[in-house]
Amino acid sequence: MNVFNLVRKALYSVPEIKWGVSDYENSFLVLKWGENQYQPSRKLLTSISKSLSTINKYPTLQSTLKVKIANYAQVDQSECLLSGADRAFRIISETFIEKDDEIIIFEPTFPIFEKCVLIMSGKVRKIPLDKSFKIPSVTKISRSITKRTKIICLCNPNNPTGNFIATTAQIENLLKLDLIIVVDEVYFEFSNQTCLRLLKKYSNLIIIRSFSKTFGLAGLRVGYILSSREIISYLSRVELSIAPFDIPTPSLAGAIAALDNIEITKQNIKQINRAKVNLTSKLKKMGLKVYTSATSFLLISTRSFGIKSKEFIQLMENSKIILKDVSIYSGLSEYESYMAIPNKNDIPRLVNAIKKIISTKTKPLH
Ligand SMILES: Cc1ncc(COP(=O)(O)O)c(C=O)c1O
Repeated sequence: MNVFNLVRKALYSVPEIKWGVSDYENSFLVLKWGENQYQPSRKLLTSISKSLSTINKYPTLQSTLKVKIANYAQVDQSECLLSGADRAFRIISETFIEKDDEIIIFEPTFPIFEKCVLIMSGKVRKIPLDKSFKIPSVTKISRSITKRTKIICLCNPNNPTGNFIATTAQIENLLKLDLIIVVDEVYFEFSNQTCLRLLKKYSNLIIIRSFSKTFGLAGLRVGYILSSREIISYLSRVELSIAPFDIPTPSLAGAIAALDNIEITKQNIKQINRAKVNLTSKLKKMGLKVYTSATSFLLISTRSFGIKSKEFIQLMENSKIILKDVSIYSGLSEYESYMAIPNKNDIPRLVNAIKKIISTKTKPLH
């Protein structure tokens, strides 16, 4: 049977992404996903465990969580939809993208939205970020807008570069273009910098947030979308018609407990930000280039030692430390590598492994 001929043609242009192995022995330090490296608090675990006694029933905590998110983000409930962040890209594509509709993204960036759009038979225009990983002027961006352009999407802060690629003023200028502007803010709480205030003024803004990173709940796959009442109602038609119970009970319970105990998350963020400053300074002292990060990960360059990231990642793996191969992102050089901020007890292990590698190479070239 020839399956190939039956598959939707759009899938032919969706390259298979090789995310690689995801489960390692306990002795490995896995820093490839930018995860929050601190274990969830006892309070959170207790709430999640308690919720397990009701998993014979469909989830019922959606509205409780929505009320808490609306309160946390200071929006109306009608301006919020529960959805994991990855899934949000899918819902947005299914809501807006028809065959040959176009979106604009800035490279290098998180690859999921592009794939969602291609699967919907849409087209993706990629505009490179400048050397400091910032978006170009709105005038330049406008040159890539065609009659078919519907969405401009930016991750702010961006993955894999870690920085803010646009200011709120630039986002406001993009909103004036009368397209849908999607702003991924899954790392928002690491800096508390957000374009949320624009939601009051513009009905074409969509913000994606997540409990994965700052709240340290990546395994629960829960997040939310903030937008105008009108957009949320269309997104809800897609999501709630097909998957009304998509977020499992333990995930809803975990997110509720996280918001009820926000102080724990705030402490955790402080710890990660402190570890980030500490690690950044150690890596810079060794002669490595470290890019500014407002996220839970760092992007570094081993160019000054002439070590390509493929080799670097392989050598780190010999020390049982797993970093991300960023060659899946177009727009970075072959010398960049990505690592989650380890918890503070693991920083010496990471630093020593890197020291061992660079000590075998010549001194920095600059
Ligand atoms: C920029 C960005 N957006 C979205 C996601 C996906 O978030 P989630 O795991 O909450 O679905 C990630 C995960 O790494 C990310 O870096």
